[in-house]
Amino acid sequence: MRKIAVLTSGGDAPGMNAAIRAIVRTSLNKNISIIGFKNGYEGIIDRDYVVFDKRSVGNIIQKGGSILHTSRSSRFMKKKYRQVAKDNLRLLGIDGLVVIGGEGSTKGATELSKISKTRCVVVPATIDKDMPLVGSTIGFDTAINTALSAIDKIRDTATTANVTHIVEVMGRNCGWLGILAGIGAGAEVTIIPEVKINIPKLSQKIKDQLNKGKKGCIIILAEGGFSKGGTSLASALKEEGSLDLRITTLGHMQRGGNPSAVDRVLATELGVRAVLSLKDGFSNIIIAKPLDSLEKIEFDQFLNSEVKVDMYLHDLIENTA
Ligand code: F6P
Repeated sequence: MRKIAVLTSGGDAPGMNAAIRAIVRTSLNKNISIIGFKNGYEGIIDRDYVVFDKRSVGNIIQKGGSILHTSRSSRFMKKKYRQVAKDNLRLLGIDGLVVIGGEGSTKGATELSKISKTRCVVVPATIDKDMPLVGSTIGFDTAINTALSAIDKIRDTATTANVTHIVEVMGRNCGWLGILAGIGAGAEVTIIPEVKINIPKLSQKIKDQLNKGKKGCIIILAEGGFSKGGTSLASALKEEGSLDLRITTLGHMQRGGNPSAVDRVLATELGVRAVLSLKDGFSNIIIAKPLDSLEKIEFDQFLNSEVKVDMYLHDLIENTA
């Protein structure tokens, strides 16, 4: 292993910089030269990259975003451009590639590994935590904390003004962000894509809470939990009776900000292990920490698995509402 490349791909997540730092520093400490492709897979196609030295990653562990930038490369989805990427990796003498990204980026890495001799490992990073088998993903903990700090503020006004608020959180088709935001915020109702909702029952539940003396309720709506989003959920609830409702969409603020301690540590651990795994000859694996130990998950195993949210945790919301 003489030369490694790293890239960040897909939706950016806080902690990506901490992972880049760990990968760059570990490589250089092992006398492996390292470059960083810009804008995800686009950078391989365009041969757009930076050559790293140890100082290039100084003072970034605490910063949100990615110094390499990201993209959801539509070109890389086409065979023709993956072929260009493969040729460029060979031309640049890249022995190992570390892809920092989520589910879509892992699929990209899987496709590349079918045609390229460059060894490839994935470091899981997405605020959605929607990757089966891998456990927490870099950025998830920070995103939850960012959401909670916003929802806490909404709770202040909700209880003061006796108004019920719908707060939309991200997560694509996966309810993890919704569940943890629901638990952490003490939400009265949490709606996730994995559980079908019944509008009359939901409306009744909120009314019951208010009748019991609650001063305003918080409804967490995870992305994908109600097909047309918060505004149509509010209209549907209003049709069931006189609820005073407001809607806040937290949106991309959940992707920004300084990574939490948990994410910095996770990113560092996974980044170091990614380089050592490449050096040890591994390829086509995701470096993950599902429990308290590091795991190597085959791409095939990953692709044949389904992501499941923890329904036990989801049930805690009901028990503590
Ligand atoms: O995957 C991260 C994520 O923020 C999702 O939660 C969301 O559905 C999506 O990306 C938004 O993507 P974009 O920034 O491309 O609009």
